[in-house]
Amino acid sequence: MVIIEASILSADFARLGEQAREAEAAGVDAIQVDVMDGRFVPDITFGPGVVRALRPLVSLPLDVHLMIVEPERHLAAFADAGADRLIVHQETCPHLHRVLQRIRELKIEAGVAINPGTPLSVLEEVLHLADLIQVMTVNPGWGGQPFLHSQLDKIRRLRRLLDERGLDIPIAVDGGIDTATAPLVVNAGATVLIAGSSVYNDQAPLAENVAALRANLH
Ligand code: DX5
Repeated sequence: MVIIEASILSADFARLGEQAREAEAAGVDAIQVDVMDGRFVPDITFGPGVVRALRPLVSLPLDVHLMIVEPERHLAAFADAGADRLIVHQETCPHLHRVLQRIRELKIEAGVAINPGTPLSVLEEVLHLADLIQVMTVNPGWGGQPFLHSQLDKIRRLRRLLDERGLDIPIAVDGGIDTATAPLVVNAGATVLIAGSSVYNDQAPLAENVAALRANLH
């Protein structure tokens, strides 16, 4: 089963609560909260307070994507705010093994994201600590960027690596996921699709965009 997560990065920031509820009503499976600190990526977005505000409004899992340096300093705050999963970037974690252990000690799921330029080899020694691996299909920092087709081969190689080790870890993809690219990434082995600008946009209501994304997967 393919999971669709709505990334609120492209939502109306003046109506985040409503937009999260709309996503739930539209049938998405989780909300991804894109946390940006202006250092790892140029923009600054949300902190634990936004997660805390959203928590009571939706029953969906809140998946927090930490595009921040030193994420280990903020794990407990996001967990306490109600995050169900924390996704850290390998590129910001010199002590990735310890960070993933720490997230699991907080009794929530641990995810690792890798940028387009980061090889799969960096994950070799921590796969057993990951509940999800997020392959960035854009260079992080903005919504609405074009999908990087070069990452399809990485997704296939990652699925093969996990299967060879008997690891049933879902592969998430994030960036440029729309009705055209969703079938490509699913075919490559991804089962969690993070969609921002393809679901939150002016072209059509959220529910229609989510339905179109899901319809294209069969
Ligand atoms: C990194 C962010 C975005 C966002 C999805 O920039 O993580 O990838 O979630 O953005 P779209 O779906 O608009 O490419």
